[in-house]
Amino acid sequence: MPTVRFVSPLGESVAQVPTGTSLLEAAERAGAPVGHSCGGACGCSTCHLWVRTGHSSLSEPSDAELDRLDSAFDVRPASRLACQALVGGSDVEAWITGESLGAFLDEHPELRRQLEAEGRWPPTQ
Ligand code: FES
Repeated sequence: MPTVRFVSPLGESVAQVPTGTSLLEAAERAGAPVGHSCGGACGCSTCHLWVRTGHSSLSEPSDAELDRLDSAFDVRPASRLACQALVGGSDVEAWITGESLGAFLDEHPELRRQLEAEGRWPPTQ
């Protein structure tokens, strides 16, 4: 099974998932802090990731995903929406964008308060 690694200023999380699993499902399995305000319906851009490796093995982006990415922050050639990109046969490394991490912390205010108390949020880099 492919390995999916998620990287953010808070650390790294890894999961092995079957082919056809969305990156959002992989993030949930890994415990990675990927936001998903619309619940994976391609209705927001809070699951925006930058795919560093394995980009070409993912499912092709739909027109709906590309349209939605148009409203995301700091879109790059490696950008994908985690809820729309399905894992292919290769390992993947994805960086969690600040947009997605911030949305995750909005969805988990207790974690945000803890990280603020520890001086780990907002990130300094
Ligand atoms: S969770 Fe909203 S577009 Fe992916």
